[in-house]
Amino acid sequence: MDRIHITDVSPRDGLQNQPLHVSTDGKLGLIQRLVQAGVQSVEATSFVSPKAVPQMADASEVVAGALQRFPALRCSVLVPNLKGLERAHAAGAREIAVVLSATETMNLKNINMGLTQATEVSEQTLHAARALGMKTRAYVAVAFECPFEGLTPAARVIELSERMHAAQADEIVIADTIGATGPAQVRELVRLLASSLPLETLAMHFHDTRGMGVANAWAALENGIRRFDASVGGIGGCPFAPGAAGNVATEDLVLLAQGAGLHTGIDLMGLLDAVEHAETLLQRSLGGRSSAWLRRQKAKMASAA
Ligand code: HMG
Ligand code: MG
Repeated sequence: MDRIHITDVSPRDGLQNQPLHVSTDGKLGLIQRLVQAGVQSVEATSFVSPKAVPQMADASEVVAGALQRFPALRCSVLVPNLKGLERAHAAGAREIAVVLSATETMNLKNINMGLTQATEVSEQTLHAARALGMKTRAYVAVAFECPFEGLTPAARVIELSERMHAAQADEIVIADTIGATGPAQVRELVRLLASSLPLETLAMHFHDTRGMGVANAWAALENGIRRFDASVGGIGGCPFAPGAAGNVATEDLVLLAQGAGLHTGIDLMGLLDAVEHAETLLQRSLGGRSSAWLRRQKAKMASAA
């Protein structure tokens, strides 16, 4: 309980909606810097339609390259359906994440299926992945609020999470897709989820649209959650969810963990290298709330050396 596990989703969530094309080498360079910083788990890419998300068209090359360079890395890939699983498996992926949204409209906008079909396809994909010996994550997106349908009933999130657990998801990732929630709502949902699911299977995925990402992570931490998604530099957002901003920044979450006396195994200066690499790729300045301070620390260390 003195350790938190972070999956850095910047190569997938962080890059999927960027207007600038990022090369396969650039993506692998980002993953390399994350590994050098001590990140043990990344979401490397997604096997989705290249028409829907052109930035992820090189998914096979990214996952094959990442696993060849970093065989010990936990490297999950997002798959929306069985075709995505088939492509991911052929490329050598060992871990997948299905993406189920908690509302009818968000599923239709994101993966062109209604809630019932999306739930069934996610279940089939999880079972098929487990039969192939893969590890599995299941997102429950718009778990707090949907950009199309407003507040999401907690009972529905619980029911879908239970179904994903029953379908053998190793990790259920509760996602605040548009960054609309606050600590009290997080605390309430985590408590409800923990009464029907093992706490250690739950992860939180916060977007930081309103600057509440770290506060929400703290509310989850205080209620026993130890698994989080985050994105270096705070990049990210679902292209099909209007108003979605970037994920909570990995560097902010690591700093929060340090302040709470929890280990992450991740080095902040190493993360700053990853932020700077992402800035080169995306040609704009990036960073979570802590990165200006991290840059000053780095400059101080350089002048003292
Ligand atoms: P569709 O058009 O309904 O699919 O798209 P279809 O089954 O009718 O097939 C149409 C064409 O797509 C066919 O090709 C299929 O083979 C192909 P064609 O015959 O026209 O040449 N196809 C595929 N190609 C590659 N990979 C696949 C695949 N499946 C079918 N897996 C589909 C349905 C799901 C494919 C599409 O809607 C899609 O790709 N959506 C992308 C969704 C996405 O990437 N969203 C962003 C990630 S989710 C997110 O960011 C939220 C998250 O971060 C958590 C949070 O913050 O909330 C996870
Ligand atoms: Mg996301």
